[in-house]
Amino acid sequence: MSVKIDIRNVRKEFRIRDTREPFTALAGTDLDVREGEFLTLVGPSGCGKSTLLDLIGGLTEPSGGEILIDGMPVSGPGLDRGVVFQQYALFPWRTARANVEFGLEAKGVPRAERAERARHHLDLVGLGGFEERYPHELSGGMRQRVAIARSLAFDPDVLLMDEPFAALDAQPRESLQEELLRIWEKTGKTVVFITHGIDEAVYLGQRVAVMTSRPGRIKEIVEVDFDTREGDLRAAPAFGEYRHHVWTLLRDEVAAAREQERKVAVGHG
Ligand SMILES: Nc1ncnc2c1ncn2[C@@H]1O[C@H](COP(=O)(O)OP(=O)(O)OP(=O)(O)O)[C@@H](O)[C@H]1O
Ligand SMILES: [Mg+2]
Repeated sequence: MSVKIDIRNVRKEFRIRDTREPFTALAGTDLDVREGEFLTLVGPSGCGKSTLLDLIGGLTEPSGGEILIDGMPVSGPGLDRGVVFQQYALFPWRTARANVEFGLEAKGVPRAERAERARHHLDLVGLGGFEERYPHELSGGMRQRVAIARSLAFDPDVLLMDEPFAALDAQPRESLQEELLRIWEKTGKTVVFITHGIDEAVYLGQRVAVMTSRPGRIKEIVEVDFDTREGDLRAAPAFGEYRHHVWTLLRDEVAAAREQERKVAVGHG
């Protein structure tokens, strides 16, 4: 399988006001994301997950190392990559349809085709019939679906998702997880999906990349391979084993992250 995103020895430092030492969020981060795979990324809070996603999205530049997509260095944001942020980034003054059309306008897609593509993608995320609703007329889960439809409508090769379902209750979260898997299977996109949920990571990911505490590196990649996706996967014994393995990897990193935060708080970080 070919490599879609090649992250090589990436480093990211931030300058913080009034301090001489740069703050290192990522150091020595290596990761290959395969073409068409669904990769989930977990790690302790503050380890650099969102920082890594921003770098892949081209929203910021690495301080060292490089990120290649299809063998070409990332030099900024592009329509080949769609980003779904944790908070619903919808325009409140636009209807669901007009929100989805937004990126298509920027791309110069003609009006009739825009409307058609918006309808199609809202249908795909189960929002057929809600096209003319404004964000405040939709539930939180529905708004997040609009954001997902918007990023899909650009038809990016790569979907970068930063804890997109974190704010949802279990029930709508599970139905969105299923829809996302269905869309992924149908479209063959490469997905990088950050989550705090171990269950979510194991349920969605073909591989789960576990990061260390800051500066975040990839600690281990767990290949998740179920015989079948039929039935209640979460109840399968193999699911429990994967879950436990990821949990064990994370446990030590979370402890290390707590200790680090304590040091930063007293000024020795
Ligand atoms: N623009 C910035 N300036 C300074 N420090 C930053 C900036 N962005 C992130 N950081 C720091 O870099 C580290 C990594 O942040 P990041 O947001 O990538 O973590 P994360 O793994 O996504 O955490 P969480 O799981 O809580 O979302 C944190 O310590 C954060 O304080
Ligand atoms: Mg984050």
